[in-house]
Amino acid sequence: MNIYLDNAATSSPKPRPVLEEVQRALTRYNANPGRSAHPAALEAAHCVFETRAALAGFLHAREEDCVAFAFNCTDALNLALKGVLRRGDHVVSTLLEHNSVLRPLSELSSRGQIALTLVSPRPDGMVNPADVRRALRRNTRLVAVTHASNVTGAIQPVAAIGQIAEAAGVLYLIDGAQALGALPVDVRLLRCALYAFPGHKSLLGPQGTGGLYIRSGMKLNTLREGGTGTESDSMLQPADPPERYESGTLNLPGLAGLRRGVEYVTERQSAIMMHERELVTALYEGLRAMEGATLYSPSEEAARAGIVSFNLGDLSSAEVADALARRGIAVRGGLHCAPGAHRSLGTLRRGAVRASVGHANSIEEIEVLLRAAREILKDGV
Ligand code: ALA
Repeated sequence: MNIYLDNAATSSPKPRPVLEEVQRALTRYNANPGRSAHPAALEAAHCVFETRAALAGFLHAREEDCVAFAFNCTDALNLALKGVLRRGDHVVSTLLEHNSVLRPLSELSSRGQIALTLVSPRPDGMVNPADVRRALRRNTRLVAVTHASNVTGAIQPVAAIGQIAEAAGVLYLIDGAQALGALPVDVRLLRCALYAFPGHKSLLGPQGTGGLYIRSGMKLNTLREGGTGTESDSMLQPADPPERYESGTLNLPGLAGLRRGVEYVTERQSAIMMHERELVTALYEGLRAMEGATLYSPSEEAARAGIVSFNLGDLSSAEVADALARRGIAVRGGLHCAPGAHRSLGTLRRGAVRASVGHANSIEEIEVLLRAAREILKDGV
């Protein structure tokens, strides 16, 4: 039996329309989008246009806003951070962030280019918006916050933090790695200037896809320059989005699949959300009733985004994840590339076992995981 509960790392299985569109892109319109003008290239360009439009709609972006494609969410976050920050800026972020935010910020800070304040979460795993407000300085240029912790699934008060950033005239970046597709996202209500997302998690697209929402009127420094298929008579990088940020051949098969993933989720988002919440609740409550299990995800049902993190007895998370893998259950142990989140949970040494659900999981699979956890607690690994 194979039970996949590692959807926070990447969603699996992908829906059939995603697989079929990837294959079509590699056969029927296997050409370079936005370059040549023959029929296959035009169809490829149309596909990229449709994917971008679907994502802009999904984010509730205004028409003049931009969605720039990236290789993954980390790439999008790097573009946001390095594209915006200037020498002497101060940044407020949180200890909950993934290394995809912490490492670029730490790199800029260690080069002496920026000053960085990391706000600690409260014991319930939530960042207090008032702590973000208190951390602001005269030269704060950016607030960067994860929408939902990739360790605990704790959904952060991103709208309240957006109000604070807006009132202070500070740019606001949200890391949507665990949120876009799993939760409704409206970038206007969140008041963010930048929203980074992967294509391969809750949007159900292929790996190697992701993007950055960029509010209109913003011009970011580029991470890379090169051919865009536009303004080709100039040696200078185009100023206009999205091409400014998309040098080189795009990942057409990935973006084709992503379009179908976004459509799939759009058509059934509330049903998927309800289903995932039911699974997470069953898992959380089952573990809560188990003597020897320690839970790290929020106790409140509505505060969890598809993730339950836990440990069993005194076992390390790696031992438990391996024992589950031997029983055909895929989860992720360790630190999930988020050391600050584990430090605040007190799990920096042994990590935590993270089970993350997806659209295709069933309640029976959750019951199998709970039975396996009981066995491990009773008999050891
Ligand atoms: N960032 C992904 C995770 O949390 C890979 O597992």
